[in-house]
Amino acid sequence: MNTNGKNRVVIVTGAGRGIGVKVAEKFAAEGNRVVVVDLMLERAEVTAQGIASRGGAALPLACDVSSSKSVDEMVSSVITRWGAVDVLVNCAGGYVRPKMPHETTEEAWDLTIDSNLKGTFLCCRAVLPHMMKQGKGRIINFASNAARSVATGLGCEYTAAKAGVTGLTRHLAKEYAPHNILINALAPGPTDVERLRENKTEEVFASLSKPIPIGRLGRPEEHAEVVFFMASEGASFMTGATIDNNGGIIMV
Ligand SMILES: NC(=O)c1ccc[n+]([C@@H]2O[C@H](COP(=O)([O-])OP(=O)(O)OC[C@H]3O[C@@H](n4cnc5c(N)ncnc54)[C@H](O)[C@@H]3O)[C@@H](O)[C@H]2O)c1
Repeated sequence: MNTNGKNRVVIVTGAGRGIGVKVAEKFAAEGNRVVVVDLMLERAEVTAQGIASRGGAALPLACDVSSSKSVDEMVSSVITRWGAVDVLVNCAGGYVRPKMPHETTEEAWDLTIDSNLKGTFLCCRAVLPHMMKQGKGRIINFASNAARSVATGLGCEYTAAKAGVTGLTRHLAKEYAPHNILINALAPGPTDVERLRENKTEEVFASLSKPIPIGRLGRPEEHAEVVFFMASEGASFMTGATIDNNGGIIMV
């Protein structure tokens, strides 16, 4: 694997919208082959078409990361098409409209845990044997500032899922470091994506920036830059870490 740049095979889940789009575009712009994965194929196709229109290589694939069958099929398709997986970025995730913990439904709990935590595990599990065979690999998991403290606005299930992602990241990092597979997590702070604007007045949306010392929301491109670094040769001594990229909203 050329860890710094050209021609790696990079899977980015949740790349049909939001931060994942910019992560996929960054790796493609740096000369890598990008697998654009999303639950919604039409979203993945739009991202892939954008990359292709700029001369990049992108393969759009539909996959539900919370289903082992779907994940295993997705990774098999990648191996058939491009023969390797050098980098996995687990960006897919979501939440449902949160309630107080005592009112949270089992369905909401399962949906959030499955798309964020179980999906991250299943995608790691599917690529690790290929990375072990290759003798190297990089995995970047998406946590959240919710994992570093709590996010009452997003529900206890989201806080639990993202805290789980950081624990999973540490565990896998320790077990696979001897295989030269480096596994880290990024914990973004509130970021200006379509999802964050949904169901909010301009006033409520503007208030989201107030607790952020830098004074504004993050931009998806700012996370893409950090993820790209985490997959680069420059990050060759880093594993099991959770990197905060959050404008200072949580300092740990
Ligand atoms: N935006 C923020 O403020 C923020 C802050 C902290 C952490 N994060 C994390 O960053 C990541 C990206 O967030 P975003 O705001 O860009 O999200 P987003 O909702 O804009 O995009 C997420 C994408 O993931 C896909 N997805 C959801 N469930 C899936 C599944 N089961 N299988 C496959 N794809 C699925 C969706 O279809 C969507 O296209 C998430 O893990 C999120 O929890 C975001």
